[in-house]
Amino acid sequence: MPQSAENFINQLLNQMTTEEKIGQLNQFSASADLSPDLLRQGKIGSLINASGALTGQGFSDSGNAEISNHFQKLALESRLKIPLIFGRDVIHGFRTVFPIPLAQAAAFDPDLAGEAASVAAREATASGIQWTFAPMLDIARDPRWGRVAEGNGEDPFLCSQIAAAVVKGFQGEDLSAPDKMVACAKHYVGYGSAEGGRDYEGGEISEPTLRDVYLPPFRAAIEAGSGTVMSAFIDLNGIPATADRRLLTNVLRGEWGFDGFIVSDWESIKELIPHGIAEDEADAAQLALHAGLDMDMVSGVFLNTLGKSLTDGKISREELDEAALRVLRIKHRAGLFDHPYTDAGRATPDILAPQARTLARKLARESMVLLKNENNLLPLQGFRRILVAGSFIHARAELFGTWTPDGRAEDVTPLDEALRETAPNGMELWFADTPDLALHLAHQVDAVVLLIGEHPSRSGENANVSDLGLPPGQSEFVDAMKEIGKPMTLVIFAGRPLAITRQLSQADAVLYAWHPGIEGAAALGELLFGHEAPSGRLPITFPRATGQVPIYYNQKNSGRPVHPEGQFKTRYIDLLPSPLLPFGFGLAYTQFEYGNLKLSSDVMRGSLEISAGVTNVGARVGVETVQLYVRDLVGSLTRPIRELKGFQSLTLQPGETRRVTFVLREEQLAFTRADGTFGTEPGNFHVWVAPDSQRGLRGEFCL
Ligand code: BGC
Repeated sequence: MPQSAENFINQLLNQMTTEEKIGQLNQFSASADLSPDLLRQGKIGSLINASGALTGQGFSDSGNAEISNHFQKLALESRLKIPLIFGRDVIHGFRTVFPIPLAQAAAFDPDLAGEAASVAAREATASGIQWTFAPMLDIARDPRWGRVAEGNGEDPFLCSQIAAAVVKGFQGEDLSAPDKMVACAKHYVGYGSAEGGRDYEGGEISEPTLRDVYLPPFRAAIEAGSGTVMSAFIDLNGIPATADRRLLTNVLRGEWGFDGFIVSDWESIKELIPHGIAEDEADAAQLALHAGLDMDMVSGVFLNTLGKSLTDGKISREELDEAALRVLRIKHRAGLFDHPYTDAGRATPDILAPQARTLARKLARESMVLLKNENNLLPLQGFRRILVAGSFIHARAELFGTWTPDGRAEDVTPLDEALRETAPNGMELWFADTPDLALHLAHQVDAVVLLIGEHPSRSGENANVSDLGLPPGQSEFVDAMKEIGKPMTLVIFAGRPLAITRQLSQADAVLYAWHPGIEGAAALGELLFGHEAPSGRLPITFPRATGQVPIYYNQKNSGRPVHPEGQFKTRYIDLLPSPLLPFGFGLAYTQFEYGNLKLSSDVMRGSLEISAGVTNVGARVGVETVQLYVRDLVGSLTRPIRELKGFQSLTLQPGETRRVTFVLREEQLAFTRADGTFGTEPGNFHVWVAPDSQRGLRGEFCL
């Protein structure tokens, strides 16, 4: 940080009273009855959800900015005129709602996710918000957990790439620019390991797995400059994340050099009491502050207890100063001391701009994954009459997915309209929203498309399920439609991988659309009718049945590796042990072949070039996401059977071959070793250039 900035905040700190320092450490939820005096006395450092807090109180509709300006003005009437920082969950877009983060990961295109974050920052800052509670970087291996929708799936490499791109998208090169906002890497850490997929439950993660799987996306976010971090609700290995000094201070600040501030999750400091680690509010606040946590999200316990704890000698002046300084540092970096107010005039040009919609369309298109396409049923061409049926046919806000407090249904073209607009001339589309009507009409059409899956409220915070099958009634609908025997396409909307084993075998084509956002309907039409071709890849393993989870591609081999027939091999007696669909899988409207694998050497010294030829052997142009995996055959600790180390997308014309080259660097082979240190070990490795995590051309090298 430039010396002048550090001088500025240090001088400010020197003028602050204890109350004012504690004031900076509190985030309040904005509401109409929030006491103006608390703001004028400098007792609040941040507000969450200011937009909308004063609806109906004389602010104009472009009034989100006016509302935060109203609160800001009160804060600037305080003695030292320290501005508030306004936070909100801008998770996958603001008014322009992009696909859910899990879907964005399926695009395997971190730059595109970064561009989406940049649009979200422009829109949110135009509404008076300078701080988003994103990106959500929790690795998830159990899709029963509803928050799997909010993250980028199961793989640390892919998640890390996206983490860095999204942080840069939100924050830009210069965080103080008016259209940039502070990122918050959350939920630190291990939140996705909640037992049984039940949100808020505890989890246990071994140190090597924590270091090599769960921490890397956070480290990538910190290296990309994330200004803040949020502690998770979880009790990890017996220590609630909000009180974990080793992870919050030693790792985050000590090992990684993080100099921003850490905010708790909603009331998670106070929750140290029911966790059974703190006796009362004062105890909880002390534990969190000692751990290195700087801002209390809405529980009020810092405000209520830290003053007395200081007098009683339970906390030190140094740790209080340090916390206040970190908050001031980020406010300064965000430019709030220079421009605390938002120009309300920005709302019109900056929100819902045409380019934002174009980007949302592209991202929605690239995130959808084609799972099956028997006899090239898709794209739908040459049919005279098609029935489109299912509860999603008129969908608007149902396309948004979880965490879209600022998305508006009226901004979305209803799905049926969007499909009509994209269908080829001369093709008749019939619509039916009930199974009875659909089954009746199906006899009179040439093909059927069923739009099924999960309503957005079925994923997201605490929206966990015990059954990964389709929601009630839908599999019966598919069964009945199957009986009629028309070519059948399933479009599945969901916030998680669903166990669709039966439907995958019944349907001729399956397109997994996730929750695709504001332009999802048009994007779907473009793919179904062949204006564009699908290119998404699964960022998470699809199980055959709920009982198979947790299931993920980078598992360990075991002493008796998976084998369906071996009585004493890893298996189920009632189910194949393999996933329904592996991580990295996705089809196109054409086919690709891999050949001619080459390694620049069979010994790695520093780095190695690995290349293969990829040919489009089908009749249409297509995008292939070529993936690089490695396996370390012998380690001081057991190693995953595959780990993703790179990916590249290629657009190939029919008949075209291109050589894809990856550079694998020695440090990419490092892991947490038996003695706890991080580094490589000499030995033999397998390497694959592959279309997904189960197939590919295999080579060997030694380090
Ligand atoms: C969630 C966070 C979110 C916060 C603020 C909590 O319940 O766990 O992800 O940022 O609320 O809305």
